[in-house]
Amino acid sequence: MPGEPKRLEHPKSVYIIGFIFKIITLSVLIAVVYQITLSPHGPQLLVPLQKKMEAKQKSAIMEEVKRQEEYEIHRHFHNIVSYPKLPENVQPVCYICHSDYPHSKSKKVRAMLNMHTQFFVCETCHIEEKYGASVVYKWYNPLDKDPKGPFFGTSYDPQTGNLVEVEDQFSKIAPYFRVGGELQSALQIQDAPLAQDYVKVRDKLTPEQRDNVKKKFHVNIKPKGHDCKKCHDEKGILDFKKLGYSENRIMDLKQLNIAGMITKYEKFYIPNLFSDSPQ
Ligand code: HEC
Ligand code: HEC
Ligand code: HEC
Repeated sequence: MPGEPKRLEHPKSVYIIGFIFKIITLSVLIAVVYQITLSPHGPQLLVPLQKKMEAKQKSAIMEEVKRQEEYEIHRHFHNIVSYPKLPENVQPVCYICHSDYPHSKSKKVRAMLNMHTQFFVCETCHIEEKYGASVVYKWYNPLDKDPKGPFFGTSYDPQTGNLVEVEDQFSKIAPYFRVGGELQSALQIQDAPLAQDYVKVRDKLTPEQRDNVKKKFHVNIKPKGHDCKKCHDEKGILDFKKLGYSENRIMDLKQLNIAGMITKYEKFYIPNLFSDSPQ
């Protein structure tokens, strides 16, 4: 417009060139900071700190959860790392029909539940309480009548803070019924006549017949396992001390709750997980 003073504008190219210089300066700055803090070719000022943080977060169990979550993602593409396998005749019957990763329904909680099967037999969570018998939990090793430990995950290495590695790879916590003064195993193993018979004839069975056999194996099994708080709580069902857990490990396992982990699961997944809705 003719009345207004004419504004002096720089040509557009000046802005563009200025912008390019800013980007270059910024990149150089980032490169220099990286070079002196983390780069393996520089003085690595921050590397000890980074290592420390990584070491602190290392937990064999959480790695297992991560591995399982990854497994969930890559389920169809990869074979996962194998664990030492028990001979079939001493494996629990559940594995005739269920895999090592039996939980699939609830997407958010399944990796966590499947992780627990590394140190629990299924019945530890799925056992139906029987009238007149209390349930006692003990370490169980099908290849050793009286396993002495040390058992997986029961204590920390004071030097590294990681869980102590153990030789015993087979022992798991399992339930027993105490009837009178006696402890009876609550497990059925594949050596049992019913299991052997089923494996022989299963291909000849109709779906209904299979369903009937399934019910026999599911005796004493409740469809939904114990919820998290049944164990991760001051008044949990497991006697951690008797099971050989160290004091500080017991604190951590009981207080997972306070750390927010269980609350998180509860808040998001448990309301419908553990409601008594019909199956
Ligand atoms: C003869 C095969 C067979 C055996 C052995 C077996 N199951 Fe199952 N189970 C099934 C089938 C089939 C289903 C239903 C399909 C599904 O939900 O995956 C099922 C479902 C379940 C469910 C979900 C709830 C339900 O009733 O649908 C749980 C929990 C379960 N089984 C636990 C166990 C445990 C623990 C053992 C070992 C004591 C076991 N099963 C042994 C075949 C078997
Ligand atoms: C840490 C406790 C725990 C252990 C150990 C455990 N379960 Fe479960 N299981 C649960 C809970 C809790 C549910 C209910 C979850 C839901 O409703 O999604 C469940 C549900 C199931 C279901 C049906 C729902 C689904 O996710 O497919 C099957 C099948 C099952 N369990 C089989 C097994 C078998 C087989 C084992 C042993 C290899 C086992 N569970 C060990 C806690 C456990
Ligand atoms: C039947 C008892 C029981 C139930 C039910 C149970 N847990 Fe656990 N959980 C344990 C025990 C015991 C350990 C430690 C095992 C070991 O290392 O020997 C453990 C370990 C963990 C750990 C690893 C802790 C660490 O510091 O390494 C997490 C996380 C966890 N449980 C979360 C859960 C959540 C979430 C649920 C419910 C979805 C749940 N647990 C249900 C008994 C249970």
